[in-house]
Amino acid sequence: MKKMYILGIESSCDDTSAAVLNDNILLSNVTASQDVHREYGGVVPELASRAHQQNIVPVVDAALKRAGITKEQLSAVAFTRGPGLMGSLLVGVSFTKGFARSLGIPMIDVNHLQGHVLAHFIKEKPEDTTPPFPFLCLLVSGGNSQIVKVNAYNDMEVLGQTIDDAAGEAIDKCSKVMGLGYPGGPIIDRLARQGNPLAYKFSEPHIPGLDYSFSGLKTSFLYSLRKWVQDDPDFIEHHKNDLAASLEHTIVNILMKKLRLAVKQTGIKHVAVAGGVSANNGLRNAFHDHAKRFGWTIYIPKFSYTTDNAAMIGITGYYKYLDKDFCSIDKPAFSKVTF
Ligand code: KG4
Repeated sequence: MKKMYILGIESSCDDTSAAVLNDNILLSNVTASQDVHREYGGVVPELASRAHQQNIVPVVDAALKRAGITKEQLSAVAFTRGPGLMGSLLVGVSFTKGFARSLGIPMIDVNHLQGHVLAHFIKEKPEDTTPPFPFLCLLVSGGNSQIVKVNAYNDMEVLGQTIDDAAGEAIDKCSKVMGLGYPGGPIIDRLARQGNPLAYKFSEPHIPGLDYSFSGLKTSFLYSLRKWVQDDPDFIEHHKNDLAASLEHTIVNILMKKLRLAVKQTGIKHVAVAGGVSANNGLRNAFHDHAKRFGWTIYIPKFSYTTDNAAMIGITGYYKYLDKDFCSIDKPAFSKVTF
């Protein structure tokens, strides 16, 4: 079969990213991040869509150039159709429609969450190893926390998911309450490495099954902090490492407890982690620890494929292309989580 070139486009939140794949081998992955949100302590949707407008054409041009191909060589364009911020998604979706139509090539719509999971199949070299089916994937990002059973590239079942906040959202909010910068995840991660994870206890949820909940932890963190700061106004400054380590420890405990239950219920011991929070050192250590203690075979993505990127959209597009699963020109973006 003729080799194909797929262009992947990701614009669901605050990263404009484009990637080129030759079959399942990644040739380029270019991302423009948006620093404009830092001073607001969170993503401002209107500013995000404006920045995507500025970045999308240069990012796509750079990805093609780095891959060493011209746009006329492309076989298809895969793009994130949702979930995400509507204004951000519309930039990628509208760009893709115009671009694919002008080249006369198919479009492939990709669910951003499926993209995070299939990031495990991005190959930089043909000999790179990938998980066998079926495997379990803990998908933890700023907007989602799910346990997914991955039966095949295009066949996934959500076994459990958050009923309120996502893990990344909880970390970001607690970090904001501590007056740290945005996004909080990498800052908490850095501080936690110097702190005592058992210094403070925060409430853990007791909900049945494989679902998660993080809003109670967020409230418990906020109320405890308020009380401690009332007694000592410099409390955060003096104890931020221990606070970060204890928060991270609690979140990792919550995540791993349900994941152990999912392994027990399904009997599947091939376990992957994906999404922005999978960059976290404490979570990565917990995965290694579980591999040793319980004989799991674990799959942890490269840092560059944990947060939003177009390589994961391109690889998902590749497997949908093999199934001839194309998208019609009239399909709109969608903002809400569906999987
Ligand atoms: O997957 P992602 O880039 O975006 C979504 O699709 O949501 O995830 C972003 C989330 C943010 O909440 C961010 O704080 C968190 O991932 N994050 C981390 C780390 N790096 C990013 N959380 C904990 N430790 C990290 N090192």
